Amino acid sequence: MDESKWKEMESKYYMHVANRYPMVLERGKGTKVWDTDGNEYLDFTSGWAVNNIGHSNEIVAEAIAEQAKTLLQTSNVFYTIPQLKLAEILIENSVLDKIFICNSGAEANEGAIKLARKWGKLNKNGAHKILTAFDSFHGRTISTLAATGQPKYHEMFMPVTEGFDYFDLNDIQSVKKIIDKDTVGIMLEVVQGEGGVNICTQEFVQQIRNICNQENLIMIIDEVQTGIGRLGALYGYEKYNIEPDVITLAKGLGAGVPIGAILAKDEFSVFVPGDHGSTFGGNALTCAAAYASTKYILENDIHNEVNELSKYFMDKLNNLISEYEIIKEIRGMGLLIAMEFSADISAEIVSRSNEEGILINAVRPNAIRFMPPLTVTKSEIDQAIIKIKNAIGKTIR
Ligand SMILES: Cc1ncc(COP(=O)(O)O)c(C=O)c1O
Repeated sequence: MDESKWKEMESKYYMHVANRYPMVLERGKGTKVWDTDGNEYLDFTSGWAVNNIGHSNEIVAEAIAEQAKTLLQTSNVFYTIPQLKLAEILIENSVLDKIFICNSGAEANEGAIKLARKWGKLNKNGAHKILTAFDSFHGRTISTLAATGQPKYHEMFMPVTEGFDYFDLNDIQSVKKIIDKDTVGIMLEVVQGEGGVNICTQEFVQQIRNICNQENLIMIIDEVQTGIGRLGALYGYEKYNIEPDVITLAKGLGAGVPIGAILAKDEFSVFVPGDHGSTFGGNALTCAAAYASTKYILENDIHNEVNELSKYFMDKLNNLISEYEIIKEIRGMGLLIAMEFSADISAEIVSRSNEEGILINAVRPNAIRFMPPLTVTKSEIDQAIIKIKNAIGKTIR
């Protein structure tokens, strides 16, 4: 199918919600994907921080195939083995006690917001307001949009759900200023992904924990992007030596299948039958994939190896700063890394990178983001560096 044909089909059939890269992807293996013209790319977007153990991982493929032949969907009034096993592995490797399994990051956050509101009704005189950071991203439903501290996403959809207020990242005074009697909790990404890879300081996350203890607020960590190994620990909160009250997961959890989850401490697990649910949430197919992937990560210590890969990649990216004046900063944690430029050149860098055979993301007009599979090799990182160098060179020449 030639380019004019698929562009024509897109404009005929699709709602235009994304500016797509000019290729039709056909298959993937590990860190690589191929398009329908046979071009090979290093995929440093990995399905938007999703394919944590690479494309078409055999273990996950087998778990999906086996489960598809056995049992796909039952609804949540029945027990299934894959769901029980997933619940056990996620909870036993966390500081949380109870789980609710759903289908996406927005759905997980939406559920966490409901959980916080119910807890506030029962324990804090109906306090319901949740504080989130400017530049955060929590999803695209009408309440998770409201939670997202980026007014540009709200404008066309007003009124979004009320009961949210925003603070500046790493500024505890700006948090203190907006806490009032209606405040029930604080929702935070320890590293903001969509906002541009903005990293919370250790001090700030500890201060948020302290303030939640002092003011009796729920501390919710949105681990949709940072969870399941991305930051170099199974859960991102481990990097900060704190215990959150609630976390949400999605993206990397299913290694490519749509799944999300809310994990909460016993004290905050206030849902009772009828409060919450999801027809497809926790279905046997996606749970089998997520269990296989999580087990694979833990057994092979992939989440910890990310730290070594991160250092290797960041060192090489930092070396480019002395070669190209236009690179302002490299920042990141684990394999969630951004390169910021002193000019708005990221769209061009992305298209030049495509030509070089590497897929990356323009997370801001002046910043690109790398989120390769956690199983990326050092040799693939070396290849990526050459391609990125070439893309920068061609952009600024
Ligand atoms: C931190 C965070 N929370 C929530 C979401 C929403 O997840 P989903 O797209 O699965 O609804 C995203 C998506 O990028 C995210 O990065």
